[in-house]
Amino acid sequence: MEGEMVMSGAMRLKVVTIDGPSGVGKSTVSRKVAAALGWTYLDTGAMYRAVGFQCRQAGIELADSAALNVLLARLDIRLLPPLHEGDDVRVFLHDEDISAAIRSPEAGMMASQVSALPTVRSTLTALQQKMGRAGEIVAEGRDTGTVVFPAAAWKFYLDAPPEERCRRRVGQLRAKGQAVPDEAELLAQIIERDRNDRERTIAPLRMAEDAVLIDASELTADEVAERMLAVVSLL
Ligand code: DC
Repeated sequence: MEGEMVMSGAMRLKVVTIDGPSGVGKSTVSRKVAAALGWTYLDTGAMYRAVGFQCRQAGIELADSAALNVLLARLDIRLLPPLHEGDDVRVFLHDEDISAAIRSPEAGMMASQVSALPTVRSTLTALQQKMGRAGEIVAEGRDTGTVVFPAAAWKFYLDAPPEERCRRRVGQLRAKGQAVPDEAELLAQIIERDRNDRERTIAPLRMAEDAVLIDASELTADEVAERMLAVVSLL
């Protein structure tokens, strides 16, 4: 069947999953792996960011499940390839380009909060599974190997200590011309997001049992991508 392959007797999806905590470099690596394979890059975090953005824009309290259900029933998120190589995917919400607005540390925190809500998770997980049904996808997030695509043929978990991830994030924000007045505050946000993402009840951030662990601390994005591609080419 298209998009599926036989591995050790079990049907495996022709999907690569890359999970790990925030700021570990998953997006850069995922884009590189997807480009090398000629597959589609699925940025699941961008979808949680879009929902968080829409809740804030519409003034919806996260405890207001009725309003949230209406928002989710009408959700219209489109992910498009970036205009320039190396940029994040472009994100449209009901035809509004929210690509830049969802990339701030505050938008990340909002995404982390909405991502703990069961209705948000079930809606986005179903959308992601639909997008990956035909295979040839590199999916990046927190639960892509454990929950969204448990049958993915290749799973990776990228990790690095929070201090190292903070250092990288400061570099990225400065490269985009954004000021980082308080690095200690950024580190505190990273640690808080880690806690939110790891301790939530549904689909918490954790490594799938059959994932390959890669420590990103001492490696460049190219080196990480090469390691992943070496694993993918073995099968
Ligand atoms: O990868 P990111 O920083 O863009 O993700 C933003 C938030 O979205 C993250 O803190 C947790 C949530 N998220 C999630 O819960 N599950 C995913 N598969 C991807 C992201």
